[in-house]
Amino acid sequence: MQQTILVTGATGTVGREVVKQLSMLDGIRVRAGVHSLIKGENLRRLPDVEVVEMEFNDPESLHAAFTHADKVFLVTPLANEQVEMAKKLVDEAKRCGVKHIVKLSALGAGAEPGIQLGRWHREIERYIEESGIPYTFLRPASFMQNFENYNAATIKQEGKIYMPTGDGKVSYVDARDIAAVAVAVLTGEGHEGQIYDLTGPEAMSVDEVAETISYVTGNQVDFVNVPEDAARQAMQQQHVPDWMANSLLELYSVHRAGYSSGVTSRVEEITGRKPHTFRQFLQDYKECFV
Ligand SMILES: NC(=O)c1ccc[n+]([C@@H]2O[C@H](COP(=O)([O-])OP(=O)(O)OC[C@H]3O[C@@H](n4cnc5c(N)ncnc54)[C@H](OP(=O)(O)O)[C@@H]3O)[C@@H](O)[C@H]2O)c1
Repeated sequence: MQQTILVTGATGTVGREVVKQLSMLDGIRVRAGVHSLIKGENLRRLPDVEVVEMEFNDPESLHAAFTHADKVFLVTPLANEQVEMAKKLVDEAKRCGVKHIVKLSALGAGAEPGIQLGRWHREIERYIEESGIPYTFLRPASFMQNFENYNAATIKQEGKIYMPTGDGKVSYVDARDIAAVAVAVLTGEGHEGQIYDLTGPEAMSVDEVAETISYVTGNQVDFVNVPEDAARQAMQQQHVPDWMANSLLELYSVHRAGYSSGVTSRVEEITGRKPHTFRQFLQDYKECFV
């Protein structure tokens, strides 16, 4: 029988890749839960994908999205109220008899005391554990796609990446590899109760990232190591709310200290394929940086 898999945050960096990859498989009906129907328009063109509007603060839209869903890939946004949002999603999943939740969490969510971003994810993970619904937690490192989402403008306009990360190395992971793991877990067996730390194949400093972008695009790109105070000021000027600035600066301090450089082999173990290197990622996303 065809099973229905709901993907929340389906227009996001990982969510849309999960929808795309699931849509290529037989015997699966994908329900893409989108915040904005306009943003979700191109997901409709994929085979066997049903697009539903989903506002995490609207119980009716949650009920409609979860009804008859067998499994869920659960993504919540980086938001001040992400724990409350996620709890509502888990409650509705329980009411609707969902049989497996695969949650997009974050590397370091299990660390004590950890950082704020990790603690929020751990709180959600605990709530899922206590719900009694079988679960799998995916804890990825920082996404390679962040450079496309947050740094492409200054890379293209000034040939610069501004970040307060010093020479700390990070094991950036390609969102397509996270999605491939999610798909393997959602459609395979034996992943219930597991927690997977997902990283790329190598750890790189942002200086090395800039060097690789320069090499692949042919345009010189330099890393500018921004002092923390200046990074905070820049965020204030861009009207980034204080809670977000604080949590991002805390994350960058972890990067700077080298705590985000661990590499795991989980992507290959679960998908049978090697994760993308940063250079491979750039070859596919080159157009975003020129
Ligand atoms: N970025 C990283 O490097 C990284 C690393 C590890 C873990 N994570 C975790 O991954 C998760 C996703 O982060 P991301 O930055 O990749 O986010 P993202 O791509 O922006 O995805 C978030 C999705 O949630 C949707 N959304 C936002 N508010 C919503 C609401 N009120 N109701 C329904 N849908 C809503 C967004 O739709 P709209 O855009 O239409 O609002 C979007 O599709 C977060 O929990 C983050 O902590 C991120």
